[in-house]
Amino acid sequence: MQKQLRPQHGAASMDKLKRVLILSLITQLITGIRCDCVTTFATICSTVDDVKTLGNEEWTELIVGEEMCGKRTTIGRPREHLAVETFTKSPNLRMLYLVEKVRNIEVGAFQTVGNLNYLKLYKNLIKVAALGTFSGFRHLAMLDLQHNSIENLATGCFANSSIESIDVSNNLISSIATGVVDLPGLLRLSISHNRLVHLAERCFNEDLEHLDLSYNSLSHIDLGVLNGLKNLKTFILNHNKIKAIIPIPFLKKLQILDVSSNGVQHIEDKAFTDNLDLQELYLNNNSIKYVSHTSFPTQSNLITLHLHRNLLTLLTGDLGNALPKLKHITIGGNPWACSCLTIIQTYFNMKGIQFEQCDLTHLTDGLNPVCYASGSRECVGNEHVEILKEDVSSFQSSYKCTFKPAAFN
Ligand SMILES: *[C@@H]1O[C@H](CO)[C@@H](O)[C@H](O)[C@H]1NC(C)=O
Ligand SMILES: *[C@@H]1O[C@H](CO)[C@@H](O)[C@H](O)[C@H]1NC(C)=O
Repeated sequence: MQKQLRPQHGAASMDKLKRVLILSLITQLITGIRCDCVTTFATICSTVDDVKTLGNEEWTELIVGEEMCGKRTTIGRPREHLAVETFTKSPNLRMLYLVEKVRNIEVGAFQTVGNLNYLKLYKNLIKVAALGTFSGFRHLAMLDLQHNSIENLATGCFANSSIESIDVSNNLISSIATGVVDLPGLLRLSISHNRLVHLAERCFNEDLEHLDLSYNSLSHIDLGVLNGLKNLKTFILNHNKIKAIIPIPFLKKLQILDVSSNGVQHIEDKAFTDNLDLQELYLNNNSIKYVSHTSFPTQSNLITLHLHRNLLTLLTGDLGNALPKLKHITIGGNPWACSCLTIIQTYFNMKGIQFEQCDLTHLTDGLNPVCYASGSRECVGNEHVEILKEDVSSFQSSYKCTFKPAAFN
């Protein structure tokens, strides 16, 4: 009897198993609840757990993100944890994107993926970058940590790594200590949109070529910080609180300097005399009353100079002579002495220097003032003219022209 029953029992359980399988398949198709890793041009996994269990030596490009199973779930708060074991099964990764996923990273989580070329960790909730967190990368081209909640980069958090470009913009960093970002071979560093108030001496490496510190709260930068930066080409400092520009003689290769929107009141003599390669200088939206030719080298290579929205009343011919290569200038939103403005504009036209033409229509229709009627018909070289605050704001609000050079797209 038992021999007859057994096959029947077996067939019934097979059937049941099939039904369960089909049901679960349908459930998966309908709800998209569970999805493993899918490989197209890159492998896409929906959770860090999937990476840990399904990881594969063949994976080279991995995205851990939400747009999976044809369904874009509403993105919740990142809460995943990257552990030491997370990537052990996929040691050949070259490109890793973890976006809107991660809450914390265990030290050593990346130790098995030292061959990564691109590590993108933007829009996560990473708070801590501890000693050794980003250590041991042999040739990382880009480490992208934008839009996290990092308050502090611990000393040694990038230790023993070769990284070409680090972007920690849009975090909560208030200071940079020595020995943190001082990496040989680091060419590009952006710490923009943070809370920087302090930079330690020699915190940057001499290899650095592009440094972006814009949108912070720096009121000054000690010369010891910039001392060794002999390869720096681009230095972006707009939207900080720097009040005076002093000579920075070490930056011999500097080509682009942006100190706009800082509240700069004063540019020292010889401020730029050693920056012989300087081609673009952005000083707009400050409180500069006077720009002297003595701030520039005798044969400056400056091509672009932005001076709009300042407190300038005049420019002298000496400045023109010191800037023989000048091609673009912005001058709007300044309380120019009217007699000087005509002379300045005639000079620019004669030299083929481009400036905002829109100011001319303001001048002729008389609706929006572009200059200050000082009463004198002569353009007198008085750099200390007192101008009423209301006048300045009317000049600045009448400045509607935008003038963006190609380099700042
Ligand atoms: C960096 O490498 C040195 C020498 O191999 C080692 O002693 C040190 O612990 C490493 N530091 C980190 C943070 O990995
Ligand atoms: C001009 O600079 C001030 C700070 O001095 C800043 O608050 C403002 O946003 C800047 N304006 C523009 C258009 O960037």
